[in-house]
This record gives sequence, C-alpha cells and structure tokens, in this order.
Amino acid sequence: MPHDIVILGVFVADAAFRCNRLPRLGETLIGTGFTLGPGGKGSNQAVAAAKAGGDVGFLARIGDDTFGAMGMATWEAAGVTPLVIRDATRATGAAGIFIEETEGRNAIVISPGAAAAITVADVEAQAATIAGAKVAVTQLEQPVAVAERFLRIAAAGGAATILNPAPAAPLPEGMLALCDYVTPNEAEAAELTGIPVTDRASAAVAADALLAQGVRRAAIVTLGGDGALVRDAAGVRHVPAMQAGPVVDTTGAGDAFNGGFAAGLAAGMDLDAALRFGTAVAALSVTRHGTAASMPTRAEVEALLAR
Ligand code: RIB
Ligand code: NA
Repeated sequence: MPHDIVILGVFVADAAFRCNRLPRLGETLIGTGFTLGPGGKGSNQAVAAAKAGGDVGFLARIGDDTFGAMGMATWEAAGVTPLVIRDATRATGAAGIFIEETEGRNAIVISPGAAAAITVADVEAQAATIAGAKVAVTQLEQPVAVAERFLRIAAAGGAATILNPAPAAPLPEGMLALCDYVTPNEAEAAELTGIPVTDRASAAVAADALLAQGVRRAAIVTLGGDGALVRDAAGVRHVPAMQAGPVVDTTGAGDAFNGGFAAGLAAGMDLDAALRFGTAVAALSVTRHGTAASMPTRAEVEALLAR
C-alpha cells in the first residue's frame, strides 16, 4: 500500500527520569519524576508527521513483547501505518533519559534492541512502498547500511529523501548524494564535516561542506533554541525558532522538527514553508513532557503559525 511519507527507524520505550542535576558515577540520586512512554527517533518522527496531517508508514523491527505492544498502540492512536516486523527472538529496546529540571537539558542512552536487527532484506521487502512515497525519512539509530539501502530505493523511485543523521556516524562514500535534505544538529554537523559548529556562521560553513559532500537540495543545521540554518542553491537563510509557551522538555524536539518538515513537504509546501511548519511542530513539542507523547495536532500547528 502506498503512503505519502515512509519513515525507516527505531522504536523503543523511553524511561525518562527528571532530576535537579545529572548523577555522578557511583552516585544514587533521588529524582523528581519518572515517565515511561513511546520513543525512538524514527517512531517519534512518524508520530509527529502523522499528527501534523501526513499519511505515514513506519518501517522498523520490534519485539513481540510489552514494549512492542506500546509501539503498536502509539501508531494506532497517531494514525501511523506500522510496516513493522515483530521479531519473536529479540526484545524491543529502551532508552534511559535523564532530564535536568533546571535547564531542561538531557542525556540519553539508547539500546535499540530488536530495532538494531533490521536488515537490508527487510527494507527490500518494502521496496514498492518506499519507491512510491513522496517523502522518505531515516536516521542513524539502526545500521547505516540499512539506512543507505532505504535512501537508495527511495531516491531511485523519485521520493524526496531526508536523512536526519542522528546519532552521527561515519557514512559510506556517496551516501549523502542519495539525500535531498540532511538535517543534523550542531554536534552532528560537526561530526560529519569536521567543522566545529557553535553559531549560525559556523553552521553555514558546515552546511556548505555538506552540499560539497553531495547533498542534493539543502543542508539544514538545527540550532536548538536558535532555530535552524538552511543552505541551498538559493543561498543561506536563518529559520527562527518559535515560542509556543514555557519549555519543559526538549527531548525529541529534533524529531518533531523532522516529522513536521516531512509532513510539510508531503503536503506540497516549498522548502521554506515546510521548515517553518517543522519549526512550529518542534516549538509545541517542547512545551510538553515526553517525546512521541508531546507531538501536536495539525490544528495546533496551524493555530501557532497563524498567530
Ligand atoms: O530524539 C529523542 C529520542 O532519542 C528518544 O525518544 C530516545 O528514544 C532516543 O532514541
Ligand atoms: Na516534549
């Protein structure tokens, strides 16, 4: 079955601990709160895109267990079509997330579990759906070779391809030439280019380097609270962040942005409009706790954009 947007990635359960500061090695710290909810960058992006109005298929491997069932329930509620393989021999993974109450910063350890066992053959089995999509999105939480095959099939089919290179990993020669858009954050842009990224000016230099490495349409470096820097054939632009209320949890903000950006492109928006749309999705997500659980509806995004 075709979908406008196909996303390859990881689903895990997010175990999120709030604390006044991060624990030190060997230390036991009393936290200020805990939630268990759906996470994984690919799944978060799929939920963001579907809630923002996109027709989304999500491709992943999950376990046949309680956390896997959490994934299925999450996609059903968000209107995401699961193109998932339920792996009877591996457990669904989890992420341990520490969120500082004071500055809202976070530290994450993810064990992708069954999601890491996805294969090139799993992607090839969905080739028709991937090639038929308008927009195809992946990240780097599952093996790079699988992401590469996904992008190759999508690009050959004429889909607009988005690589969110998170977490950053060395890429095989030619992989960026399969990407219409690449969306690293500052640290990921630095790792991919060797250029330290600390502000808009250095982000623009890194974005140039990504285009030189083969990215086809635009390099978009996300800058946290300062929005994003976009570089394409028309030049360099800054996309300002938006404010939707007090910030309580920035975990998954990048996923909100990528999912919203994909939904905007699939809806026929031009690059700048789709980036603004993604920025609005991210702005709303950081006003709520959780990752997938904090993604806004299309109506909420439109209301923020109209303000
Ligand atoms: O981008 C945020 C996500 O990164 C979390 O949901 C966590 O699962 C990790 O994958
Ligand atoms: Na959030």
